[in-house]
Amino acid sequence: MQITASTRNPLDTEPELLAIPLTELDPARWRLPARVAALDKQLGGALSAALAQGDFRGKRRETLLLYPHEGSAKRVLLIGLGAESDLDGRALREAAGQAIHAARRARASSPSLVAPSGRRMRAPALCQALAEGAVLGVYRFDRYQNPSNEDGNGAVERLQIHLEKSGDLRSARAGIQRGVTLADSQNLARDLSNEPPNVMTPAKLAQTAEKMAKRVGLKARILEPNELKKHKLGALLAVAQGSHNKPRLIVLEHNAPKATRGKKKPTRHRPTVCLVGKGVCFDSGGLSLKPAASMVKMKHDMSGGAAVIGAMRAVALLKIPLHVVGIVGAVENMPSGHAYRVDDILTSASGKTIEVTNTDAEGRLVLADCLHYAQNQFEPEAIIDLATLTGAASIALGPWAAAVVGNHDRLAEAIVAAGETSGERFWQLPLWDAHRDHMKSKIADVRQTGGRDAGTITAAAFLSHFVADDKPWAHLDIAAVADTALTSPTQARGATGFGVRALLELLGGWKGLKLN
Ligand code: BES
Ligand code: ZN
Ligand code: ZN
Repeated sequence: MQITASTRNPLDTEPELLAIPLTELDPARWRLPARVAALDKQLGGALSAALAQGDFRGKRRETLLLYPHEGSAKRVLLIGLGAESDLDGRALREAAGQAIHAARRARASSPSLVAPSGRRMRAPALCQALAEGAVLGVYRFDRYQNPSNEDGNGAVERLQIHLEKSGDLRSARAGIQRGVTLADSQNLARDLSNEPPNVMTPAKLAQTAEKMAKRVGLKARILEPNELKKHKLGALLAVAQGSHNKPRLIVLEHNAPKATRGKKKPTRHRPTVCLVGKGVCFDSGGLSLKPAASMVKMKHDMSGGAAVIGAMRAVALLKIPLHVVGIVGAVENMPSGHAYRVDDILTSASGKTIEVTNTDAEGRLVLADCLHYAQNQFEPEAIIDLATLTGAASIALGPWAAAVVGNHDRLAEAIVAAGETSGERFWQLPLWDAHRDHMKSKIADVRQTGGRDAGTITAAAFLSHFVADDKPWAHLDIAAVADTALTSPTQARGATGFGVRALLELLGGWKGLKLN
């Protein structure tokens, strides 16, 4: 789908569908914005007639489809944005998503959308949100359905966004471009996560990431099992050892510093931020096998890794002026005669030993080695990991937010704030010494699990033993939000691609963490 911006009168283009988002109208004394009033006039008063009947109020997600007798628009869709004082990116994304769904239903291949004249948002941010909503809204994972199973809707080839002022056109186009890049990258994360586990194996995930990297100019390195052994990633390898599908470590780099000859260490120009993702392509639980019902959807257990890969795509295309490294530990957690056991003691890449207490707590083992690898290889200014780590995240926050736990409050707060802007909700949970102490083992350095209490925090507490105390680190537990049944105009059932937009919001405004 192509998205264009124009300042022409939308009726000049004779649209098959003209979508007009409107903020909430006072039922007694409603007045249309001047530009919409002019369109209404050309459409023979079709809009004001509906409003006079009280058939449309502009409430959030409210829609009304009209077939005006006059003017050149075949259909007009009024879309409610809710109260003007609350107008935000989410309302705009959803409105654009609704416009796209209506166009598909009407088989209108090139609909037009009137950009609302938001007083609170300027043209680039407004257009970015509309573009994101359209691209996210059009997403479906249907590649495994035969054409006979299709829903009968049409494809949308082009969305034209109509702006009021020509002065805004250039910046609006930049906003659209940014929105399309972000949403396409989020849709890549959705695709990787939605692919079934018999297709998206660790090797396939690595190969897909590598291909994407080549296309967008990222440096890519895939570590195969023998290299993982060389790097002594004993915790990651333990999880992987029960599966026929062998593990990979995916390392993607944006703005990789060029190694200078003669010097051992490359000269560094830009601060480094590492993104680490849990890439468990299927989580059966291993020997601590999951009950049948809990195993369903465990193909999504690589969603943290998928978000990292999606974010790296956007980081490259948006030319973020940082050295960003994406590291994904891709494994499969399976039971077999080769599988790791409960009571095993593992030696992690850091040298710390781990007492295994539940093979279903595999994600933290994979991350422990990835976090160590990130610190050891790249000496980053900050590390952010994303993982579908604990079912307890759903108990704590439900399907409405991801948990943030870490060792650096300002980094955590910056992530929460970035999510507020991007429309992804994060909520910080505490991490105290008591939690960290709770994860000490009587027979090894640390134990893998900490019991029922505060499961999301104790998982993070385990991870904290593999991060230096003075290394700013945030752990994002996305278990409750990585795939969803909470559908919306911008979210089909299945993988969400949660985290991609927030990461880019954070990295795009990165000022460093030196003040703390
Ligand atoms: N992948 C799961 C966490 C998960 C659960 C993600 C539900 C999405 C939905 C993780 O590997 C896991 O099994 N965690 C265990 C940890 C426990 C054994 C300490 C859990 O949360 O039950
Ligand atoms: Zn598990
Ligand atoms: Zn898992």
